Amino acid sequence: MSKLLQSINLQNTPNHIAIIMDGNGRWAKGKGMQRVFGHKNALTAVREAVAGASDVGTKYITLYAFSTENWNRPKLEVDALMSLLVNSLKKELPEFQKNGIKINSIGNIERLPQKARKVLAEVIDATQNNSTITLTFALSYGGREEIVNAIKNISKKVVNNELDIEKIDDKIINSHLYTFNLPDVDLMIRTSGEQRISNFLLWQMAYAELYFTEVLWPDFRKEHLYSAILDYQNRERRFGKTSEQIESNE
Ligand code: FPP
Repeated sequence: MSKLLQSINLQNTPNHIAIIMDGNGRWAKGKGMQRVFGHKNALTAVREAVAGASDVGTKYITLYAFSTENWNRPKLEVDALMSLLVNSLKKELPEFQKNGIKINSIGNIERLPQKARKVLAEVIDATQNNSTITLTFALSYGGREEIVNAIKNISKKVVNNELDIEKIDDKIINSHLYTFNLPDVDLMIRTSGEQRISNFLLWQMAYAELYFTEVLWPDFRKEHLYSAILDYQNRERRFGKTSEQIESNE
Protein backbone atom coordinates (compact mmCIF):
# COMPACT_ATOMS: atom_id res chain seq x y z
CA MET A 1 0.00 0.00 0.00
CA SER A 2 1.21 3.50 -0.69
CA LYS A 3 2.93 5.36 2.18
CA LEU A 4 0.73 8.40 1.60
CA LEU A 5 -2.43 6.31 1.80
CA GLN A 6 -1.21 4.74 5.05
CA SER A 7 -0.73 8.21 6.56
CA ILE A 8 -4.35 9.22 5.90
CA ASN A 9 -6.67 9.17 8.90
CA LEU A 10 -9.65 7.29 7.47
CA GLN A 11 -11.94 8.68 10.19
CA ASN A 12 -11.49 12.23 8.92
CA THR A 13 -11.56 12.13 5.15
CA PRO A 14 -13.50 14.68 3.10
CA ASN A 15 -17.03 13.49 2.41
CA HIS A 16 -17.26 15.56 -0.79
CA ILE A 17 -14.29 16.40 -3.01
CA ALA A 18 -14.69 18.76 -5.98
CA ILE A 19 -12.02 19.06 -8.66
CA ILE A 20 -11.26 21.66 -11.30
CA MET A 21 -9.38 19.50 -13.82
CA ASP A 22 -7.15 22.15 -15.37
CA GLY A 23 -4.11 22.05 -17.62
CA ASN A 24 -5.03 19.61 -20.39
CA GLY A 25 -4.20 22.14 -23.11
CA ARG A 26 -0.82 23.06 -21.62
CA TRP A 27 0.02 19.38 -21.10
CA ALA A 28 -0.60 18.68 -24.79
CA LYS A 29 1.22 21.80 -25.94
CA GLY A 30 4.23 20.75 -23.87
CA LYS A 31 4.34 17.60 -25.94
CA GLY A 32 3.94 19.50 -29.22
CA MET A 33 0.40 18.19 -29.63
CA GLN A 34 -3.09 19.68 -30.15
CA ARG A 35 -5.19 20.60 -27.10
CA VAL A 36 -7.62 17.74 -27.75
CA PHE A 37 -4.76 15.30 -27.16
CA GLY A 38 -4.64 16.63 -23.61
CA HIS A 39 -8.37 16.04 -23.08
CA LYS A 40 -8.04 12.47 -24.35
CA ASN A 41 -5.21 11.85 -21.93
CA ALA A 42 -7.26 13.23 -19.06
CA LEU A 43 -9.28 10.08 -18.65
CA THR A 44 -6.65 8.11 -16.74
CA ALA A 45 -6.54 10.98 -14.25
CA VAL A 46 -10.33 10.87 -13.90
CA ARG A 47 -10.21 7.12 -13.16
CA GLU A 48 -7.37 7.57 -10.65
CA ALA A 49 -9.09 10.42 -8.83
CA VAL A 50 -12.35 8.48 -8.47
CA ALA A 51 -10.58 5.28 -7.40
CA GLY A 52 -8.40 7.18 -4.92
CA ALA A 53 -11.41 8.93 -3.41
CA SER A 54 -13.21 5.61 -3.15
CA ASP A 55 -10.18 4.03 -1.40
CA VAL A 56 -10.37 6.54 1.46
CA GLY A 57 -14.14 6.37 1.86
CA THR A 58 -15.08 9.68 0.25
CA LYS A 59 -18.75 9.41 -0.75
CA TYR A 60 -19.01 12.24 -3.30
CA ILE A 61 -16.65 13.45 -6.00
CA THR A 62 -17.63 16.23 -8.40
CA LEU A 63 -15.62 17.01 -11.51
CA TYR A 64 -15.77 20.27 -13.48
CA ALA A 65 -15.86 18.73 -16.95
CA PHE A 66 -17.36 21.61 -18.96
CA SER A 67 -18.25 25.13 -17.85
CA THR A 68 -20.86 27.50 -19.30
CA GLU A 69 -17.86 29.56 -20.53
CA ASN A 70 -16.35 26.53 -22.31
CA TRP A 71 -19.07 26.85 -25.01
CA ASN A 72 -16.99 29.80 -26.30
CA ARG A 73 -14.04 27.55 -27.22
CA PRO A 74 -13.42 26.68 -30.90
CA LYS A 75 -16.18 24.43 -32.25
CA LEU A 76 -13.67 21.68 -33.00
CA GLU A 77 -12.64 21.51 -29.35
CA VAL A 78 -16.23 21.65 -28.05
CA ASP A 79 -17.22 18.83 -30.41
CA ALA A 80 -14.20 16.78 -29.36
CA LEU A 81 -15.06 17.23 -25.68
CA MET A 82 -18.68 16.17 -26.29
CA SER A 83 -17.58 13.06 -28.23
CA LEU A 84 -15.11 12.22 -25.52
CA LEU A 85 -17.87 12.50 -22.94
CA VAL A 86 -20.23 10.23 -24.89
CA ASN A 87 -17.57 7.62 -25.68
CA SER A 88 -16.07 7.53 -22.21
CA LEU A 89 -19.42 7.25 -20.45
CA LYS A 90 -20.34 4.30 -22.66
CA LYS A 91 -16.96 2.65 -22.32
CA GLU A 92 -16.68 3.10 -18.57
CA LEU A 93 -20.15 1.84 -17.67
CA PRO A 94 -18.94 -1.71 -16.76
CA GLU A 95 -16.28 -0.14 -14.49
CA PHE A 96 -18.90 2.09 -12.85
CA GLN A 97 -20.99 -1.01 -12.13
CA LYS A 98 -18.05 -3.07 -10.89
CA ASN A 99 -16.89 -0.34 -8.53
CA GLY A 100 -20.27 0.82 -7.22
CA ILE A 101 -20.01 4.25 -8.85
CA LYS A 102 -23.25 6.18 -9.10
CA ILE A 103 -23.23 8.75 -11.91
CA ASN A 104 -24.87 12.13 -11.49
CA SER A 105 -24.74 15.40 -13.41
CA ILE A 106 -25.18 19.07 -12.61
CA GLY A 107 -25.48 22.02 -14.98
CA ASN A 108 -27.61 23.21 -17.84
CA ILE A 109 -27.85 19.72 -19.36
CA GLU A 110 -30.45 20.92 -21.92
CA ARG A 111 -27.64 22.71 -23.76
CA LEU A 112 -25.71 19.48 -24.43
CA PRO A 113 -26.08 17.77 -27.81
CA GLN A 114 -28.94 15.28 -27.86
CA LYS A 115 -26.58 12.29 -28.11
CA ALA A 116 -24.71 13.36 -24.98
CA ARG A 117 -27.97 13.92 -23.07
CA LYS A 118 -29.20 10.48 -24.05
CA VAL A 119 -26.05 8.59 -23.04
CA LEU A 120 -25.79 10.58 -19.83
CA ALA A 121 -29.40 9.79 -18.91
CA GLU A 122 -28.83 6.09 -19.65
CA VAL A 123 -25.70 5.89 -17.50
CA ILE A 124 -27.35 7.82 -14.65
CA ASP A 125 -30.28 5.43 -14.79
CA ALA A 126 -28.13 2.27 -15.00
CA THR A 127 -26.00 3.28 -12.00
CA GLN A 128 -28.71 4.75 -9.78
CA ASN A 129 -28.53 1.94 -7.20
CA ASN A 130 -24.74 2.01 -6.83
CA SER A 131 -23.67 3.29 -3.46
CA THR A 132 -19.88 3.23 -3.00
CA ILE A 133 -19.34 6.75 -4.36
CA THR A 134 -21.35 9.33 -6.30
CA LEU A 135 -19.45 10.75 -9.27
CA THR A 136 -20.99 14.00 -10.45
CA PHE A 137 -20.02 15.56 -13.76
CA ALA A 138 -20.51 19.32 -13.92
CA LEU A 139 -21.47 19.86 -17.57
CA SER A 140 -22.41 23.18 -19.06
CA TYR A 141 -22.20 24.27 -15.44
CA GLY A 142 -21.84 27.76 -14.03
CA GLY A 143 -22.21 28.65 -10.36
CA ARG A 144 -23.85 32.01 -11.02
CA GLU A 145 -26.27 30.54 -13.54
CA GLU A 146 -27.20 27.90 -10.98
CA ILE A 147 -27.96 30.56 -8.37
CA VAL A 148 -29.94 32.69 -10.87
CA ASN A 149 -32.00 29.61 -11.73
CA ALA A 150 -32.67 28.86 -8.09
CA ILE A 151 -33.79 32.46 -7.46
CA LYS A 152 -36.18 32.32 -10.44
CA ASN A 153 -37.72 29.03 -9.28
CA ILE A 154 -38.07 30.19 -5.68
CA SER A 155 -39.59 33.50 -6.84
CA LYS A 156 -42.18 31.65 -8.93
CA LYS A 157 -43.24 29.72 -5.85
CA VAL A 158 -43.52 32.91 -3.82
CA VAL A 159 -45.60 34.61 -6.55
CA ASN A 160 -47.89 31.56 -6.76
CA ASN A 161 -48.34 31.56 -2.97
CA GLU A 162 -46.68 28.13 -2.72
CA LEU A 163 -43.89 29.51 -0.53
CA ASP A 164 -43.87 32.14 2.23
CA ILE A 165 -41.02 34.62 1.69
CA GLU A 166 -40.09 34.35 5.39
CA LYS A 167 -39.51 30.62 4.97
CA ILE A 168 -36.63 31.16 2.53
CA ASP A 169 -33.44 29.94 4.21
CA ASP A 170 -30.23 27.99 3.39
CA LYS A 171 -32.17 24.75 3.13
CA ILE A 172 -34.72 26.11 0.67
CA ILE A 173 -31.96 27.58 -1.49
CA ASN A 174 -30.00 24.30 -1.38
CA SER A 175 -33.03 22.38 -2.51
CA HIS A 176 -33.35 24.57 -5.63
CA LEU A 177 -29.73 24.19 -6.77
CA TYR A 178 -28.51 21.57 -9.28
CA THR A 179 -26.76 20.02 -6.28
CA PHE A 180 -29.98 19.54 -4.27
CA ASN A 181 -28.99 15.89 -3.69
CA LEU A 182 -25.34 16.56 -2.77
CA PRO A 183 -23.73 17.69 0.50
CA ASP A 184 -21.49 20.81 0.76
CA VAL A 185 -17.98 20.52 -0.63
CA ASP A 186 -15.29 19.74 1.97
CA LEU A 187 -12.21 19.87 -0.24
CA MET A 188 -11.74 21.60 -3.60
CA ILE A 189 -8.69 20.71 -5.66
CA ARG A 190 -7.51 22.65 -8.72
CA THR A 191 -4.63 21.42 -10.85
CA SER A 192 -2.17 23.30 -13.10
CA GLY A 193 -1.16 26.04 -10.68
CA GLU A 194 -4.11 28.40 -11.26
CA GLN A 195 -5.56 29.69 -7.99
CA ARG A 196 -9.14 30.57 -8.85
CA ILE A 197 -12.53 28.95 -8.38
CA SER A 198 -13.80 29.96 -11.85
CA ASN A 199 -17.55 29.98 -11.17
CA PHE A 200 -17.53 26.43 -9.76
CA LEU A 201 -19.92 25.47 -6.93
CA LEU A 202 -19.97 29.00 -5.48
CA TRP A 203 -22.66 28.34 -2.88
CA GLN A 204 -21.52 24.82 -2.03
CA MET A 205 -17.88 25.81 -1.41
CA ALA A 206 -18.70 28.32 1.33
CA TYR A 207 -16.64 26.37 3.89
CA ALA A 208 -14.52 24.19 1.62
CA GLU A 209 -10.78 23.87 2.09
CA LEU A 210 -9.01 24.89 -1.12
CA TYR A 211 -5.99 23.01 -2.43
CA PHE A 212 -3.93 24.03 -5.43
CA THR A 213 -1.27 21.92 -7.13
CA GLU A 214 1.08 22.60 -10.04
CA VAL A 215 0.41 19.14 -11.50
CA LEU A 216 -1.31 19.31 -14.90
CA TRP A 217 -4.54 17.32 -14.95
CA PRO A 218 -3.45 14.50 -17.33
CA ASP A 219 -0.57 13.75 -14.91
CA PHE A 220 -2.82 13.61 -11.83
CA ARG A 221 -2.70 10.25 -10.01
CA LYS A 222 -3.98 8.71 -6.75
CA GLU A 223 -0.84 9.87 -4.93
CA HIS A 224 -1.65 13.49 -5.77
CA LEU A 225 -5.15 13.05 -4.37
CA TYR A 226 -3.75 11.49 -1.20
CA SER A 227 -1.37 14.46 -0.79
CA ALA A 228 -4.33 16.83 -1.07
CA ILE A 229 -6.27 14.84 1.55
CA LEU A 230 -3.30 14.81 3.93
CA ASP A 231 -3.01 18.57 3.55
CA TYR A 232 -6.76 18.87 4.26
CA GLN A 233 -6.33 16.78 7.41
CA ASN A 234 -3.72 19.21 8.73
CA ARG A 235 -6.11 22.12 8.54
CA GLU A 236 -8.47 23.21 11.26
CA ARG A 237 -11.99 23.66 9.96
CA ARG A 238 -13.62 26.21 12.21
CA PHE A 239 -16.80 27.16 10.33
CA GLY A 240 -16.56 30.64 11.88
CA LYS A 241 -15.97 29.38 15.44
CA THR A 242 -12.79 29.83 17.54
CA SER A 243 -10.08 27.16 17.92
CA GLU A 244 -11.06 26.79 21.59
CA GLN A 245 -14.69 26.09 20.71
CA ILE A 246 -13.63 23.48 18.16
CA GLU A 247 -11.31 21.77 20.69
CA SER A 248 -13.99 21.63 23.38
CA ASN A 249 -16.53 20.41 20.82
CA GLU A 250 -18.98 23.25 21.51
C1 FPP B 1 -9.25 22.18 -18.55
O1 FPP B 1 -8.06 22.15 -19.28
C2 FPP B 1 -10.12 21.09 -18.90
C3 FPP B 1 -11.33 21.18 -19.52
C4 FPP B 1 -11.92 22.46 -19.95
C5 FPP B 1 -12.13 20.02 -19.83
C6 FPP B 1 -12.10 18.91 -18.83
C7 FPP B 1 -12.36 17.69 -19.57
C8 FPP B 1 -11.78 16.52 -19.33
C9 FPP B 1 -10.87 16.29 -18.17
C10 FPP B 1 -12.04 15.42 -20.28
C11 FPP B 1 -12.59 14.23 -19.64
C12 FPP B 1 -13.90 14.46 -19.02
C13 FPP B 1 -14.99 13.71 -19.27
C14 FPP B 1 -16.20 13.97 -18.46
C15 FPP B 1 -15.05 12.68 -20.31
P1 FPP B 1 -7.77 23.32 -20.30
O2 FPP B 1 -8.20 22.86 -21.65
O3 FPP B 1 -8.40 24.58 -19.82
O4 FPP B 1 -6.20 23.39 -20.21
P2 FPP B 1 -5.30 24.69 -20.32
O5 FPP B 1 -5.70 25.59 -19.19
O6 FPP B 1 -3.91 24.15 -20.15
O7 FPP B 1 -5.54 25.29 -21.65
